Amino acid sequence: MQGKVYFIGAGPGDPELITVKGKRLIEQADLILYTDSLVSEEVVANTKPGAVVEKSAGLALEEIVERMVQAAQKGGLVARVHTGDPAVYGAILEQIVQLNEAGIEWEIVPGVSSVFAAAAVLGAELTVPELTQTMILTRAEGRTPVPEGEQLRDLAKHGATLALFLSASLIDKVVSELREAGWSDDTPVAVVQKATWPDQMVLRSTVGKVASEMKRLGIRSHAMVLAGRALDPKLQWSREHQSKLYDKTFAHRYRRAVADTDGKGEGG
Ligand SMILES: C[S@@+](CC[C@H](N)C(=O)[O-])C[C@H]1O[C@@H](n2cnc3c(N)ncnc32)[C@H](O)[C@@H]1O
Repeated sequence: MQGKVYFIGAGPGDPELITVKGKRLIEQADLILYTDSLVSEEVVANTKPGAVVEKSAGLALEEIVERMVQAAQKGGLVARVHTGDPAVYGAILEQIVQLNEAGIEWEIVPGVSSVFAAAAVLGAELTVPELTQTMILTRAEGRTPVPEGEQLRDLAKHGATLALFLSASLIDKVVSELREAGWSDDTPVAVVQKATWPDQMVLRSTVGKVASEMKRLGIRSHAMVLAGRALDPKLQWSREHQSKLYDKTFAHRYRRAVADTDGKGEGG
């Protein structure tokens, strides 16, 4: 019987942030191929006797797929472990295409993306009521081009929370595009390098200061840049932006509203 390939999200670093399912599959796998320096060795430490564990950073796409196909054709279970969530900048599509061509079954097991790990480290809600209800996950354009209409200066015009992957070394460009989009220099920006790793670094800054502060701290890679008004640390001490979800005058499926004494509620 033919085996199967699982694309598994390892989470951002902390080995406890992998899903129960991802952990179980790694423990059962015959071949474990894991990506780059952002997957902790601890995540792939518990494997069954005889399992092959290999880093994929030095391998070409064809070599990776060849290993997976061979193992699956022998009936093996393959754990292809990616950092964060495999669906975000995981380069899984090109692997999926070749697995389909080879007739190998596959499945994706999601993981905690670094965007959410960074938000957790910062204690931030990224969708703050009445401030922004939208998040944009993107990257600055560097050697890898972004499609027409997805330039940062266009996306930033929405005023939504921005999560910038793969952009730490392009911070000067990020700042100039945010300014072009009309963002003021005091707009909050937070940077988390190696979120949830023992050597994690957190920088709370602004559009005006973030580039020089990142350079001073030597943050050039492995960093999540979160920008926008939702990143204002003062929000954690303000009652201004409260959701309707727990508003006692706001009825919804699971709760009846109490009498609205000042007439502003939405019924009950
Ligand atoms: C190739 S992408 C992979 C993203 C991954 N699939 C995810 O969901 O987080 C690598 C980029 O993700 C971000 N990243 C991944 N892990 C991170 C972490 N632990 N802390 C901060 N940023 C991280 C950085 O922007 C890094 O340049």
